[in-house]
Amino acid sequence: MSYYALVPAAGSGSRMNDGLGSSAPKQYLPLADRPMVLHSLLTLARVPAVERVFLILAPDDTNWKLCDASAVGPKLTVLYCGGESRSLTVRNGLEAVAKVVAADDWILVHDAARPCITVAQVEALIQSDDGDSNFVGGLLAVPVADTLKRARVTNEAKPLSWWVGDTIPRDGLWQAQTPQMFRLSVLQEALARVPNVTDEASAIEAIGLHPRLVESDSMNLKVTYPCDRKLAEMILRSRLSS
Ligand code: C5P
Repeated sequence: MSYYALVPAAGSGSRMNDGLGSSAPKQYLPLADRPMVLHSLLTLARVPAVERVFLILAPDDTNWKLCDASAVGPKLTVLYCGGESRSLTVRNGLEAVAKVVAADDWILVHDAARPCITVAQVEALIQSDDGDSNFVGGLLAVPVADTLKRARVTNEAKPLSWWVGDTIPRDGLWQAQTPQMFRLSVLQEALARVPNVTDEASAIEAIGLHPRLVESDSMNLKVTYPCDRKLAEMILRSRLSS
């Protein structure tokens, strides 16, 4: 049984307008001395159990060839088969890697937009497989710390007019992150049956299976808005200097 990483990086990052006129998708924006995407690739390739790292790019990607990825090493395979949505990118990627990955091998799907992932966190996910026959895979996640409010829009003509609709009890709520690890065949079947999902675990749950939650921390944030990028920069630089 082998472990493979699959990194969807075919998004445009439309919520990431940094006001600086940068036109590159967010995964290519500079972050702690290198394009964002390289941080995840370097970490995943450093995990001894991970055999190969598949990077899934948009078919018309023009930014990757400007990156120096030599430090990632020979585990990296780049595939230009991304789709219109994240789930389609993952599905296309799984179909492509199925030529070299066995049906019961483990695939760790990790967003290019989570550059602060650590080797220890990836290894904790891999080691969460305790051999129990009920283990279908798992994902990194953090227990929700804040009180959650569902917003109610009172005047759609004024988008900033938000009001509290109700409060959602946070007991038992976890925030899903990546990597998310499932067997290739199970993940392909789940995504074929439930294609419109924002993470792999949702599709696995929808076919009646229960992924394991592996506790992570909030430093494994997804860079979505400009302030996330500043936080990620601080986290990565603090590790460089320690
Ligand atoms: O946009 P969002 O932050 O949800 O994207 C999460 C990850 O999915 C990013 O790494 C992004 O590049 C990837 N993605 C993709 N194909 C898309 C949309 C997003 O690979 N069509």
